[in-house]
Amino acid sequence: MEHERTIDRRRAIQAMGVMGLAGLSGLTVAAPGSTGIPARAPSTGPSAAEARRSLRVAHLTDLHIQPERDAVAGVAACLRHVQSLDDPPDLILGGGDHIMDSFETDLSRARQQWELLRKVMKDENSLAFHPCIGNHDIWGWHKPKSATAGDEPGWGKALCMDQLEMDRPYSSFNRGGWHFVVLDSVRHDPDDPNGYVGGLDDEQFEWLSADLESHQAMNTLLLTHIPILSASTLDRKREPGGDMKIGGGLLFIDWPRVKGLLNRNPQVRCVAGGHMHRIDRVEFQGVTHLCNGAVSGNWWKGAHHEASEGYAVIDLYDEGSVERRYIEYGWKARA
Ligand SMILES: [Fe+2]
Repeated sequence: MEHERTIDRRRAIQAMGVMGLAGLSGLTVAAPGSTGIPARAPSTGPSAAEARRSLRVAHLTDLHIQPERDAVAGVAACLRHVQSLDDPPDLILGGGDHIMDSFETDLSRARQQWELLRKVMKDENSLAFHPCIGNHDIWGWHKPKSATAGDEPGWGKALCMDQLEMDRPYSSFNRGGWHFVVLDSVRHDPDDPNGYVGGLDDEQFEWLSADLESHQAMNTLLLTHIPILSASTLDRKREPGGDMKIGGGLLFIDWPRVKGLLNRNPQVRCVAGGHMHRIDRVEFQGVTHLCNGAVSGNWWKGAHHEASEGYAVIDLYDEGSVERRYIEYGWKARA
């Protein structure tokens, strides 16, 4: 479990274009104004003690529900834990990968998993639930392994949108004085007909640009499955010679234009992501990028590196600061 507060640090890095990792003490700070990046908060904002909490949200990502390993009981335990907190959240953000997988499965297996999710949410959750789409929620994009042709009803994102009761794959809403944007971060891989990459297609990017422009007066949180930025990607894969390799499935391949969009919209304070089943926090150019572990931990086989089975509680403050705790709900992996 960890507990972080960023108010003072975010003042230190505003307008400086500094990348720092949570928990590191020796944060290097560039000269003010050296990068031309716009400030995200007034230099004389309220002190940490004066900040007023606007909203508390729970971010439950990578549930990967399945019939095996008692995953349904695990998700139920997590939902009960969230709602029994002394100071419970106002809503739940669903971080994607709600089911173990339908990317590579047939329709009956996909439907079986969605039925488990719908039942446990109906039985165990009474909070507002705002989900985003994860790669494993998408049915049949790997056509050979799912034995699909691509023209079946429900193929692709249609089935999960139906099961998650989403009208659109991406959307936005307001709550507690904050603006929330639910992104659809999974795209077809242009180099692999059976694969995916992270990022936004042109249509969604244009929509996001307009949405942010029309909400510039509101502190904003972006919800995404694939992180926009995550330090954990550096710890993921090595080339045979030992060099790092970060594949397009781990981050946004259209990062340059997304970075520009974030810099033009300093009201964007936080990005909440999943996908990595890891816990990290990257402060970059005034935005707090959170990678929030996994409800399923290591896909229901215990802890994945530092990330035991858990979820994040994110407190959002009226002057735009963000506080995140990762909370383990006490699950013990079953065989
Ligand atoms: Fe996942």
